[in-house]
Amino acid sequence: MKIGLIVYSKTGNTYEVSQKLEKNLSEAGHSVNIERIEIDDENQRDLSKIRVKSPPGISKYEAIIFGAPVNAFSLCPEMTVYMSQLPTLKGKKIACFVTKGLPLAGTGGNQAISKMKNLCESKGGSVSGTGIVIWNKDRDKQITNMADEFNKLF
Ligand SMILES: Cc1cc2nc3c(=O)[nH]c(=O)nc-3n(C[C@H](O)[C@H](O)[C@H](O)COP(=O)(O)O)c2cc1C
Repeated sequence: MKIGLIVYSKTGNTYEVSQKLEKNLSEAGHSVNIERIEIDDENQRDLSKIRVKSPPGISKYEAIIFGAPVNAFSLCPEMTVYMSQLPTLKGKKIACFVTKGLPLAGTGGNQAISKMKNLCESKGGSVSGTGIVIWNKDRDKQITNMADEFNKLF
């Protein structure tokens, strides 16, 4: 299956996870392409002023995995802006994951995933797999488990 791994990553953590997912999914026989979202001004926090540079297109993919960090107990604004501008997601297989720093429950992981799901649904898509990677807690095991789950979907 042709899979697009579309990620936003400010400090590299989410990108690193996407590279591990790429390796795992490629080994399972998929054709995987990572596309990293870039922003005009990385310091811009005002949603209405965030501009995505050459937003990655999705039409060439049968399946898409969106990945982003948690910011301020929710989805980071950069991914929110990118996903809000997507065309229809009808007919695509979709999974979403986030990375986060805080290990405690209630610190934004589920909130961010819900937001990603809602954004996908608002574009006619439905999310069949999700994952949350807590950065400083058995990270490799969490990533392997998530890759195994995503492999079952595609
Ligand atoms: C501005 C900012 C806000 C953050 N807010 C949260 C948060 O609410 N909850 C959490 O668990 N981690 C939070 N983090 C930690 C990041 O989610 C975590 O380091 C993530 O893995 C960074 O991903 P990246 O390297 O791909 O940008 C925050 C980090 C930054 C810079």
